[in-house]
Amino acid sequence: MKNLLVTGGAGFIGSNFVKYVLANFDYNVINLDKLTYAGNLENLSDIEKNPKYKFVKADICEEKDVNEILQKYEIDTIINFAAESHVDRSILGSKEFVVTNVLGTQVLLDAAKNLKIEKFLQVSTDEVYGSLPEDKKEIKFTESTSITPSSPYSASKASADMLCHSYFHTHNFPILITRCSNNYGPYQFPEKLIPLMIAKALGGEKLPVYGDGKNIRDWLYVEDHCSGIMTVLEKGKFGEVYNIGGNNEWYNIDIVKLILKRLGKGEEFITYVKDRPGHDRRYAIDSGKIQRELGWKPAHLFEEGIEKTIKWYIENESWWKKVMSGEYQKYFEKNYGNK
Ligand SMILES: NC(=O)c1ccc[n+]([C@@H]2O[C@H](COP(=O)([O-])OP(=O)(O)OC[C@H]3O[C@@H](n4cnc5c(N)ncnc54)[C@H](O)[C@@H]3O)[C@@H](O)[C@H]2O)c1
Repeated sequence: MKNLLVTGGAGFIGSNFVKYVLANFDYNVINLDKLTYAGNLENLSDIEKNPKYKFVKADICEEKDVNEILQKYEIDTIINFAAESHVDRSILGSKEFVVTNVLGTQVLLDAAKNLKIEKFLQVSTDEVYGSLPEDKKEIKFTESTSITPSSPYSASKASADMLCHSYFHTHNFPILITRCSNNYGPYQFPEKLIPLMIAKALGGEKLPVYGDGKNIRDWLYVEDHCSGIMTVLEKGKFGEVYNIGGNNEWYNIDIVKLILKRLGKGEEFITYVKDRPGHDRRYAIDSGKIQRELGWKPAHLFEEGIEKTIKWYIENESWWKKVMSGEYQKYFEKNYGNK
């Protein structure tokens, strides 16, 4: 059986991915995560005893630890989710973003190359392509769109992609890169648009919307991102980039109104706040390549995915309340701090 190292598996997409793989594929999964503010082992409590799953607390920037883990667990496949992922935080300070997203990827690549790992999949983002014009709906990001990131977050992800590409080109190292649009679903940290708005609405608070609310994002249900990654891992061609997206563009403000309506609240709860500096206007993904060449397509309609997501946040209030209060971190610091 293959031994798959998932980095950042305690975060939003990583934890959904670990469960998706254990439920649908025959891999041993080793989850390497530093447990930053965004990593939460509670996301994985239902599979923590699965014999095919193992958690290791570590930092992808630590060369010695990474080497030891790859050897100890006889890793043959790596999927790198670990990242600092929030644009707003990268505007407040970008150092951590460069350290984890760029240096961390380099450490993983070197260790993987030296140990002749069979496959390395880098989980990237459509944000590396920059912004699209709002009025030219026919233009979408393809894999050959130029890389023009606008935030320190997307710049660090783009740098990591470039490093991966260089390892393929220079070392013939087996790289795959996926670039996905905005994800939504269970276990997303409530600093991101959809869970933040659901949490605020459920709490009877004002919903803060950046600028005029007319920024456009292309939303994909997290499980569809997971299936896209597995498709690329199993069928993708080394050295290639694959866009993953749901052809599902929404104005931010319309998502906010939809959430309010679903929760029986009026639009008076919306409050417009000063825009994020450098806020990209529109993202839209052309995922034709993965659909044509690898036969992938999303399984969830947006109406179905958003309903599942809102229901999950209603039913798991204690999860997001603990996350918002920081209580979960104190608990895991106590439990894992010295391990
Ligand atoms: N969320 C999205 O909409 C989206 C879309 C496209 C691509 N992505 C990419 O997918 C990946 C996962 O995104 P997410 O939203 O789940 O992020 P997240 O912030 O929820 O999770 C990141 C995880 O990485 C871990 N981590 C951070 N620094 C680490 C380090 N130095 N060593 C080990 N672990 C570390 C954190 O503890 C956390 O568990 C990221 O690479 C992101 O760029 C996200």
